[in-house]
Amino acid sequence: MKPLVIGLGQCSLDILGQVDNYPELDEKAELNSLLVQGGGPVATALVTLSRLGVPVAMAGAVGDDDFGRQIREGLIQENVDCTYLMQSAQSSSQVAFVSVDAQGHRNIFWHRGTAHPVFSERLPGLLSDSVRILHLDGLHLDPAIAAAKLARRQAVTTVLDGGTLRPGSEELLPFIDHLVVSEKFARQFIGRDDPEAAIQGLLGYGAVEVTVTMGRSGSLSMGKGLSPILQPAFAVGAIDTTGCGDVFHGGYVYGLLQNWPLERTLRFAAACAALKARALGGRTAIPTLPEVESFLSSQDEQQTPEVIG
Ligand SMILES: Nc1ncnc2c1ncn2[C@@H]1O[C@H](COP(=O)(O)OP(=O)(O)OP(=O)(O)O)[C@@H](O)[C@H]1O
Ligand SMILES: [Mg+2]
Repeated sequence: MKPLVIGLGQCSLDILGQVDNYPELDEKAELNSLLVQGGGPVATALVTLSRLGVPVAMAGAVGDDDFGRQIREGLIQENVDCTYLMQSAQSSSQVAFVSVDAQGHRNIFWHRGTAHPVFSERLPGLLSDSVRILHLDGLHLDPAIAAAKLARRQAVTTVLDGGTLRPGSEELLPFIDHLVVSEKFARQFIGRDDPEAAIQGLLGYGAVEVTVTMGRSGSLSMGKGLSPILQPAFAVGAIDTTGCGDVFHGGYVYGLLQNWPLERTLRFAAACAALKARALGGRTAIPTLPEVESFLSSQDEQQTPEVIG
């Protein structure tokens, strides 16, 4: 099936371990369980969409190492089209060590890898007629900007997962329609802990909607002509929050494809992210569409979005 969504960005191999307590410096800690699984913001958002039944394709790069082979295999197993996933010669893949504590908090140590996507010649083929949404994370800034500019010309909607504000990130922002950023990105952007002020500033770049995700505190969204929306996180007794943001983005893009009002999209995205947190690994517990629907219908009225002001 031709892809409706193309993701251009990071794909990694995650090595995850559950630990009771973090060790002091120079100490050891035994891992209760260990899991090796594909990860990365764009890649895991695409896996989410695929589980929800959306045809998707991944553009990015892996190294010519065993990690790269595992990353590709993991995506193919999830029905993610990897035609545009390049393998760079003599380069390394992105890898992350993730430690998860008894409360579901995760610490990530990651290696960027040296594989870097280059799309100068292949770019026009990337956004084929079927593609409605381009999902980016902006780590590889030049190809992201080139793809986002092309998307604008072809009326393809662009979504950015802003995890960390890096030098040059602002150059990408004018080409983004839906900006969904982490608390860290918002803090870096505005210089203080003030998601609402960050959103106001970010809206100045032209996005129709800007959301800041705030972990277990939920998310805050604002858009042109909309009152601010606070979507609480669903209480699930999280085992592992690795990839909650990535899966939230997958759910958000799903809502865009359905042309849902923002409130419904945010509630759906929060449900996807909460369900993901039920098990170790960024992808293990990503839900199917019937699972999200039955979860949402089981929730009480308190979980409907709070419209502020
Ligand atoms: N403990 C939790 N329980 C339920 N839902 C959660 C929890 N943590 C996060 N979420 C959901 O996931 C969304 C995104 O989480 P978060 O803000 O941590 O993303 P992030 O900072 O991009 O993290 P990452 O990219 O590492 O996954 C939140 O808005 C919330 O809906
Ligand atoms: Mg994130």
